[in-house]
Amino acid sequence: MGASERARLSVSLVDVAEGKERAFLELAQEFEALITLKGYGRAEVVRDEGVPRRFYAVRHWADLASAERCHSDKQVQTLTIQMHQIARVTHVVNGARRATVPAPGAPAIDDRRSSGETDRRAGFERRTRAAGRAEGERRTDRDRRLGPRRLRDRHAGEVDLVGAARRAREHADAAYSKFKVGAAIETADGTIVTGCNIENATYGLTVCAERVAMFKALSDGHRAFTRVAIVADTEAPTPPCGACRQILWEFGGNLEVILANLTKEKGTHKLKDLLPLPFDARLL
Ligand code: THU
Repeated sequence: MGASERARLSVSLVDVAEGKERAFLELAQEFEALITLKGYGRAEVVRDEGVPRRFYAVRHWADLASAERCHSDKQVQTLTIQMHQIARVTHVVNGARRATVPAPGAPAIDDRRSSGETDRRAGFERRTRAAGRAEGERRTDRDRRLGPRRLRDRHAGEVDLVGAARRAREHADAAYSKFKVGAAIETADGTIVTGCNIENATYGLTVCAERVAMFKALSDGHRAFTRVAIVADTEAPTPPCGACRQILWEFGGNLEVILANLTKEKGTHKLKDLLPLPFDARLL
């Protein structure tokens, strides 16, 4: 069989959310670069001139095996999750599927997101040696930028993350400092997990609201996160402490961090700005 006969084509109709066009085009570019780089094939995005914010995402797979490898690629999955968060994607032509009837209840390749698959930063195994890159094989420059990016604003105005943090704060056990803090983390699937600070007579065992929230989320099986809100009853915003920044970075990556008090939002930051030059698994 010639190469052209083995090639497969997938086409999706993509309706991008208002205000997210730029983010979408950036993601599409990243996706294009990634699938070319990894030899899966090539991708392009065509704008529908007749319908605002509608695009056609066209993927030319080298062959079926490449399409399948691409779909199980963690970096691709991360980008796909982000794409689904800012756009409605309808598969029109799916050349990445074997001509077999899927087992009843089995998720289709393109429905991975709904099956709750995690992104590249997911899972504890990535912190073991085997999951790391060999010395000299670390990603650099452009390639490095293909790492996980999380979507911000997905539910802006929709999900009251700050409200959830305020409510969580009421459960704080701050017997010693009297400084109550609440936190709420949004997962990639839109779930909110909250936490509050819990103090201890041996002060050092105190756990901050952010870490309580993150550990609760992890222990519930969540592995992809978009935003965290932190609330304290202070005029000046209460940013996460150093230890919490490290934990949030480890599991949440470059989260959006929203700081608020009981009545007002006091600012939004990227975690990367709060933790420049982070130490993480990429350096192991
Ligand atoms: N605290 C948090 O829970 N989160 C922060 O971002 C800052 C500090 C807690 C820890 C301790 O219980 C109290 O606030 C005073 O430091």
